[in-house]
Amino acid sequence: MEIKTDLYLGDCKEVLRRIADNSVDLIFTSPPYADQRKSTYGGIHPDRYVTWFLPIAEELLRVLKSSGTFVLNIKEKVVDGERSTYVMELILALRRLGWLWTEEFIWHKKNCYPGKWPNRFRDAWERLLQFNKTRSFKMYQEEVMVPMGDWAKTRLKNLSVTDRIRDNSRVGSGFGKNISNWLERDKAYPTNVLHLATECGNKNHSAAFPEELPGWFIKLFTTKHDTVLDPFTGSGTTNLAAKKLQRHSIGIEIVPEYYAQIKTAIDADNAPLFKLMPDYAQTENQRCLAVC
Ligand SMILES: C[S@@+](CC[C@H](N)C(=O)[O-])C[C@H]1O[C@@H](n2cnc3c(N)ncnc32)[C@H](O)[C@@H]1O
Repeated sequence: MEIKTDLYLGDCKEVLRRIADNSVDLIFTSPPYADQRKSTYGGIHPDRYVTWFLPIAEELLRVLKSSGTFVLNIKEKVVDGERSTYVMELILALRRLGWLWTEEFIWHKKNCYPGKWPNRFRDAWERLLQFNKTRSFKMYQEEVMVPMGDWAKTRLKNLSVTDRIRDNSRVGSGFGKNISNWLERDKAYPTNVLHLATECGNKNHSAAFPEELPGWFIKLFTTKHDTVLDPFTGSGTTNLAAKKLQRHSIGIEIVPEYYAQIKTAIDADNAPLFKLMPDYAQTENQRCLAVC
């Protein structure tokens, strides 16, 4: 089956109206952050961010299938010495609109620039907020398992009696962990912290994320021939990742130069961007330790 990549030039608030109801399996996007990167593609004042985003979020709610997932990559900036609260306000507003806020992942940026600030340390993470329309969304956890690594040989070797029986009661959560079940396995489920470098093959956009980032969520929440949407697609990283993983995709971009670049990259199957996507296949421990 031919993989379709539909690219649109324009304001996603308008363009989204052309997309059918309940037709998208995954929305993965990184919108412009409040007031950031004004010099390149504009910025929205933190006080107006929620009002600006809500009509777009209504359209996203309409086009997503009830089994689908919406992942929003965002991070609040510092305004006047304080962290802005617009992301928190946005979460509350999205819930009022009908979205369920089901999970929050952290993207730990392993290679953030060194620096010194008088009253804080360098910012090395961003949020990936997961929203759904229902609690029974599609999720393929086996697709993102990671090698168990040395942890199994060291920590698991010295299991206590408590570890060997189902350890249900300590926090009263009702969820037992029965660690010994994992002794013979060579793969584990990952955590909700992703350790990825910001570098990517695509240097033509000031805010491009690494292809592994959308790639990981595409594998987790979709299967082949599903449809992925990025309404703020920038240099088209989400569309490129989707194409490599044999998913159809839709990308919307407001800046003509970026739109032209994505079209060229998507059309040129032999472009450097089409190198095989690296797999998120190291163990959690290796990833955590490989910090800049
Ligand atoms: C943070 S960047 C996305 C970068 C992208 N993830 C990548 O890897 O290249 C946000 C993008 O949204 C675009 N944009 C801003 N407002 C838009 C709008 N209303 N509709 C569509 N695109 C918009 C900007 O031009 C910018 O390229």
